[in-house]
This record gives sequence, C-alpha cells and structure tokens, in this order.
Amino acid sequence: MVVLLSACSKSEEGGTKPFFYIPDGFPDPVYQFQNNPVTPAGFALGKKLFYDPILSRDSTIACGSCHQQFVAFAHSDHKLSHGIDNLLGNRNSPALYNIAWFPNFMWDGGVNHLEVQPLAPISNPVEMDETMPNVLLKLKRSNSYPGMFEDAFGSDTITTQAMMRAMAQFMGSMISADSKYDRYEAGKVNLTSAELNGLQLFRAKCESCHKEPLLTDMSFRNNGLDSYFTKDPGRALISTLPQDSGLFRVPSLRNVALTFPYMHDGRFEKLMDVMNHYNSGIQPSSTLDPLLSSNSIPLTLAEKNDLIAFLGTLTDYTFIRDSRFKE
Ligand code: HEC
Ligand code: HEC
Repeated sequence: MVVLLSACSKSEEGGTKPFFYIPDGFPDPVYQFQNNPVTPAGFALGKKLFYDPILSRDSTIACGSCHQQFVAFAHSDHKLSHGIDNLLGNRNSPALYNIAWFPNFMWDGGVNHLEVQPLAPISNPVEMDETMPNVLLKLKRSNSYPGMFEDAFGSDTITTQAMMRAMAQFMGSMISADSKYDRYEAGKVNLTSAELNGLQLFRAKCESCHKEPLLTDMSFRNNGLDSYFTKDPGRALISTLPQDSGLFRVPSLRNVALTFPYMHDGRFEKLMDVMNHYNSGIQPSSTLDPLLSSNSIPLTLAEKNDLIAFLGTLTDYTFIRDSRFKE
C-alpha cells in the first residue's frame, strides 16, 4: 500500500514518485502533511533554503554543509558538527531521513515540531549564528525568493511560517525505505547467510530499542556510554529531571554504515567499536537502561561481524542518489 498524500515529481528513473508517501509497513507519520501539503513549488523552495548559506550570518554555512546527501544527510567524517567561523558544536550531526515520523528532534528531543526545527541551527552561535529578522530581510532583498514564495504559498510576503513550512516540505519528504533490508522484507531479494544471521541477532539483542521498521522506538535511553554526565546530560537538559541524565534519543540505524562517527558525541569511528561497546564497554550508572543492566550484550567476534553485515543492508542507495534531493 502506498498512500499518496501529495503532488508527484519526476524521479531519477524518470517515473513519477510522490514527494511524500507512507512506505509499506511504516506507521502513520507524526507530521501532518494535510496542513502543509507538499507541492513542487514548496518543495523547490524548501530545497533552495536548505542549501543556501544566506541563512548564516556570513553566508558561509548552509543546512546542507552539515547534512550531506551522500551520507544520508549526516556530516561526513565529523565527530562534532562544524559551523560558522570553524566553530565546533558539542554534538554529532544526525542523519536526516524519515523525520516526518519523529515526535521530536535533536539527540535530547529539545525541539518538538518539524516546523520550528530550522530555527535552532539558524540562531545557534556555533552553527549559523543568524537572527530570523535578518534572514527574512535578506530573503526579501533577493531576486529569486519573493517569486518562489509567491509560487509556493500564493503570496510574495516572506514570513517565518512560510519559510518553515517550505523546509518541512523538503525535509519531511526525505524518505529512506528502499534498502536491501526493505527489499528482503518485501520478498524481493535474499540476504547472505551472514546478513541473515545478523538480522536474527539484531532482533534478539537490539530490536527492543532500535525497533523496526524505523529502527528506533523514539524513546530516550542511556546505553551505557558514561558513568557521569557532566559534559552532556542529554534529555535532562530538557526535562531537568535527574533520572533523565545520560539519556539520548535512540537513533534510527538506517544508513548507519554511512553515518560514522557514532553516538551523540561521535566517539566511535567504526561499527566494530559500537559492537565492542555493547559487548564489553557498557558503563554502569544510576540511569543505565534496565535492558542493559547486566552491563553487556554478549557477542562473539563472528556475531559482531554478522551484525555489522546486517547493518550494511540498511544502506539505502536509492535515497542517497535521489536527484530530487541533490543540491
Ligand atoms: C554546524 C552544523 C549544522 C548546521 C549548519 C545545521 N545542522 Fe542540523 N543538526 C546539527 C546537529 C549537531 C544536530 C543535533 C543537535 C542536537 O542534538 O543538539 C542537528 C539536528 C538537526 C535535525 C534533527 C534531526 C533528528 O534526528 O532529530 C534536523 C531536522 C536538522 N538538524 C535540520 C537542519 C536544518 C534545516 C538546518 C539549516 C537551517 C540545519 N540542520 C543546519 C548540525 C547542523
Ligand atoms: C537499551 C536500548 C538499546 C539497545 C538494547 C541497543 N541500543 Fe544501540 N543505541 C541506543 C541509544 C540510546 C543510542 C544513542 C546513545 C548516545 O549517542 O548517547 C544507541 C546508538 C547506537 C548506534 C550509533 C548510531 C549513530 O547514529 O550514532 C549503533 C550503531 C547502535 N546503537 C547499534 C546497536 C546494536 C547493534 C545493538 C544490539 C547489539 C544495540 N544498538 C542495542 C540504545 C540501545
């Protein structure tokens, strides 16, 4: 079943593809596209904004600088995000896909609506360091934007809301659901025996948090990276509850082979480092997730390799090559 909620666009293969659709087996999205239907003009405007450094104070940094399509819109090879004036942020840029299904954003869930999400990086002093009144002023002065807003929303008056809606149309349409794993689930391809064994191990040992088909259950949990949370208390920054110290939103693992380094602070370079963490690196603490209370997910070397082989089947080449999202 493919539910068509919006206009279609030419896809890479030359066929038409809806901008937004619900892939087989996916739940209903959280973002309500009924209130902001995707149109070709709205999508095009959102895409232009996403790739335009005009949103930063000195026109050097675009959203697309830290969210690059060839790595599923994560930041390639950067532990911590890298913004204006070469300043380092304190967290790893997450990949962007299937975000229409996310009830909240950021590693700590500090933003709870897709239509306000872009305000955070725009005003962040180490990301784009710009103010919205200034952004609006620059857009109004440009040659192309007033006409694009007119095409998208029927008025050339440039408002924050129209801008956020256009960006939500673009980012909300980033859907990743055509990996080898998805094709296997649809009965179209086979997995190798290593991948299949990895999938079974995954379902036994990882699935309780990294839940299919989104590969996250969207909850906040402490997976045992640290015993103390002075550097980044995660969810507790938002909730102010001590029991939320060290909890971060369970990341989706789609495209994970591309999105290194790993974890909220990018501490692990390789998937094998992640396997070693779950096998022998879990740090006990008062907020460690009860599912990990034995301080280890026992894995042999062969099992680690099979899990990594399975994680590789989550790479979605259709998505990372989809010309609709290219700059
Ligand atoms: C300097 C690098 C940088 C720039 C520029 C940047 N981002 Fe991000 N983005 C990040 C980081 C780092 C996070 C995670 C922040 C956190 O958890 O506190 C993030 C998180 C997000 C998320 C939430 C994803 C999730 O899984 O919750 C979205 C959506 C997003 N950014 C979109 C944008 C948009 C739109 C822009 C441009 C207006 C933008 N980003 C500019 C680095 C950047
Ligand atoms: C108790 C819940 C839980 C279980 C069980 C769990 N994870 Fe995680 N996983 C998390 C959380 C939470 C994070 C993010 C932690 C952070 O960055 O602070 C994470 C992060 C990851 C990452 C890094 C993703 C990224 O984009 O940075 C990978 C890879 C991963 N887990 C794989 C696995 C595998 C494989 C298993 C099974 C062996 C597993 N996880 C079991 C909760 C869990």
